[in-house]
Formats: sequence, structure tokens, C-alpha cells
Amino acid sequence: MQEIKFFGGDDVPLEMHKTRIVQKLNLIPIDDRVKAVNEAGNNTFLLQNKDIFLDMLTDSGVNAMSDHQLSAMMVADDSYAGSSTYSKLENKLLEIFGTQYFLPAHQGRACEHIMCQAFVKEGHVVPMNYHFTTTKAHIGLKGGRVEELYYPEALIVESDNPFKGNMPPERLKESIAERGANNIPFVRMEAGANLIGGQPFSLANLKEIHQICKEHKIPVVLDASLLADNLYFIKVREDSYRNAEIREITREIADHSDIIYFSARKLGHARGGGICTNNYDAYMKMRELVPLYEGFLTYGGMSVREIEAIAVGLDETMDFSIISQGPRFIAYMVDELKKRGIPVVTPAGGLGCHLNAMEFVSHISQSEYPAGALASALFIAGSIRGMERGTLSEQREPDGSERYADMELLRLALPRRVFSLSQVKYAIDRIAWLHENRRLIGGLKFVEEPKVLRFFLGRLAPVSDWQEKLTAKFKADFGDSL
Ligand code: F0G
Repeated sequence: MQEIKFFGGDDVPLEMHKTRIVQKLNLIPIDDRVKAVNEAGNNTFLLQNKDIFLDMLTDSGVNAMSDHQLSAMMVADDSYAGSSTYSKLENKLLEIFGTQYFLPAHQGRACEHIMCQAFVKEGHVVPMNYHFTTTKAHIGLKGGRVEELYYPEALIVESDNPFKGNMPPERLKESIAERGANNIPFVRMEAGANLIGGQPFSLANLKEIHQICKEHKIPVVLDASLLADNLYFIKVREDSYRNAEIREITREIADHSDIIYFSARKLGHARGGGICTNNYDAYMKMRELVPLYEGFLTYGGMSVREIEAIAVGLDETMDFSIISQGPRFIAYMVDELKKRGIPVVTPAGGLGCHLNAMEFVSHISQSEYPAGALASALFIAGSIRGMERGTLSEQREPDGSERYADMELLRLALPRRVFSLSQVKYAIDRIAWLHENRRLIGGLKFVEEPKVLRFFLGRLAPVSDWQEKLTAKFKADFGDSL
């Protein structure tokens, strides 16, 4: 795509689409926001959509769909078995990834479930560039353990390392030597590593990791859920791929992966998931689990309409002007926040903008969930829903003690092509106000704590009357403005 320059010199992420269907939003008054967030146990997962102005919880299943996706959904071939819609997706994956075998599943974690059922055994270790919550839980349920292998920069919040998602090859070699290849069912590489701020790996790194794994006959599993962002970053940040087509980069990534799985709630802008491979034995091991847990092999728990939409969405992912919209909006938000002295993860990644709660609210100790507290405060300040990605998203140790997260982030996802630039500017404004008043924000404590994936359903309360004080300051500064 050619760069579009502005006469005035502004660096504005120009949309290469127009909006033809819209959804009305509400912005409720601050007193109602405080009430809503407490009814939700200060857990943004438990908020009701009607109370939310900007929903930046996730980019999962909420990206804007294209006219071509919607029209494809109208012609879906609905049948329990042998649907031609399924063949369409299977063929699209063959075209894009070059993979012969495809297993459909209802979403990304279902793919993880199937892979872990098939390959992970008690005592196994799964090295990965960084964990994802559901991945780790599935490996743990089978008695396996995650081993994260990353460069120190991965956890340095403000950095200029373009590929924080890389895995150090030397550390992988050491890990294999120490554990023995037999105890490593697969090595997982996550495109656009979610929990460190949507940070990509380089294609050069994937190739190196794949080579090591090949020597030890260990399969490389690619989590391609956030592949679109990673593709964009390889093209704009990795010198040797600057002139490569997105299709070429995609194919090279696939050629250096043995199993590819994805959440189609992210990749392909629809709702579903799947596993692709050229390894017949691996395919056969997983195949029998699909009808058991997901549905018959030609739908895997997905609506065929969604399958049609995924096939089109994957094709659109090969268009650089489409996949650049997300990262460019995110970079705009990150740059504007940085200019205002607000701590954010840099370089800007994919998925969303990540506030560094460890610094934003440095007066809140990790035992009182700084990123969760910031999420609650931002909802109060602007009716903006983010997602805690810190200690709350961790699981306690077997002895019940807290496992403090490496990073305390408040993720503000930018679902692709959903928000306008003025809405992003509103979010920047409210975050800037909150930063000015950060000392007023206090911590949270659990009142109800589930054992597994506690961040989804756990309920918390403020440790003091800080929310009242924050609300009073908002009213003093904004008067009767929403
Ligand atoms: N892998 C990655 C990298 C993900 O980001 C997700 C989901 C999954 C696997 C699981 O996929 O949700 O379809 O079951 N991420 C969502 C998020 C939940 O909000 O970041 P799923």
C-alpha cells in the first residue's frame, strides 16, 4: 500500500473503508457508572453492554465485518455433514497456509483443548514465547507445565525492540537438553504475543526456532489468533520482508510451523476456530476428538454462516491495507498517550493499547491488583471498558499464595474498524485526566474468587472510599458533562 501523506504534516491513520451500518451508543452519567461497576464486582467482564460507551475489553468476536463477509453468510450451505461451506474454508486454508488437513472448532481455546488432550501428558513441559491464559490452563489440566522463553526486553514496558515476541534460540536448546525432547510435546509460538502487549515475533526468529525443533523432532505449534497484526509488523519492521507480499510472508510462516491453530474470533473477523496441519499422524490423533467435544468434522461447533465469513475474512487478511488499520490506530493512541507522559507499552503492538498500571498507579501494591483497579477507575472516568492483564489474570500457586504477574497492564483493545478516531481521542482525554488524578485511585480486594480463570467471574470491592473521591473530583473538573 502506498503511504498517504497529509499536506499539513499530520500523521493520521486514515481509514481505507467506510461505515455503512452503525450501532447507537450510550454514555451514562458518572454516578450510574460507579453503580454499574460495583454491581459488576469491579470486574469489567461482568459489566452490561448497555452501560458501556467504548467497549475496549477485547478484539475477540467484535471486529467489524465486511460487506463481502456478510453477503457470504447469506449463501452458507447449512448441513450437518458434508457442507460445501466447510470445503470452502478448508480450501482457503490450503491456499493461504498450504495445509492439507483442517479440523474445525468453536473457538481458539477449543483448539487448545483438543491439542492438549491429544499431545500433553503428566510431567510434560511446553516451551513458548509467552503464555496465554487459556493455553496455560489447558496444559495444566493435563498435568503439563508451561515454560516461557523470552528475551528480557519482552517484559521491559518501554522499549524500542521491534520483536519482543521472539524466543531466544539458545534458551530453547538448553531447555531441550535439560528436559529431553521426549518430554516436550510441542513448542508453541504465539503470533502477536497477547499478554505482553500484542508483541510480534520476527520471521527470522520463527525459522531459527523451527530449525532447532526439527533437529529434535519436536513440532512447532503456531497460535495464529493474532497473526494479522504479526504479519503487518513483519512487513513494516523486518528489513528482509519490506517488499514481500502478505501472502508470501504468511506462507513462509506456515512453512515453518507444524501445526497452526487460531481463534477466528480474531483471525478472520468472525467467530470460530480451527487447527491446520500437513502432519497426517497429528491430524489423526486430534481428529477423533472433534466430534466428541466440538461437533461433526464439517462444522466443529461453528455456525456455517460464520464459516463462510471466516473464509472471506482470511482472504481479506491477505490485504495489507485491511490489516494495517488496527496497528496504525493503536500506534496513534500509544503515541498520543506517550506525548502526555502516560506510561504505555512500547513499541505499539497489535490488539490494543496497553497502559502500564505498575507505573500509572505505582502506589497500589500488586496484592491489591493495580491493573484491575485502573480498569475500574477508567470505567468510572469515561465509561470505557478495558481488560485487566496482570495479577488478577494469573492463577494462585498450589499453596494458595498469589502469583504476581510480570507486568500489570490495562489492555484497551481496539477491535478492528470499529471505533472512529474521535472516539480514540475521547479515550485519550479521559486517560489523561485519570493520570492527572491517579493518586486518588485505590486498590481492590476479592469478595468472590473462583479457582480457575478467576478473572472471568471473580468479584472485587474497593479497599477504601477511593471511588467516591474520584467521582467528586470528576464532578469538580467536568461539571455536568458526561
Ligand atoms: N490464543 C490467543 C493468542 C488469544 O488471544 C486467545 C483469545 C485465544 C488463544 C483463545 O481463543 O477466545 O477464541 O477461545 N483471546 C481473547 C482476548 C479472549 O480477549 O484476548 P478464544
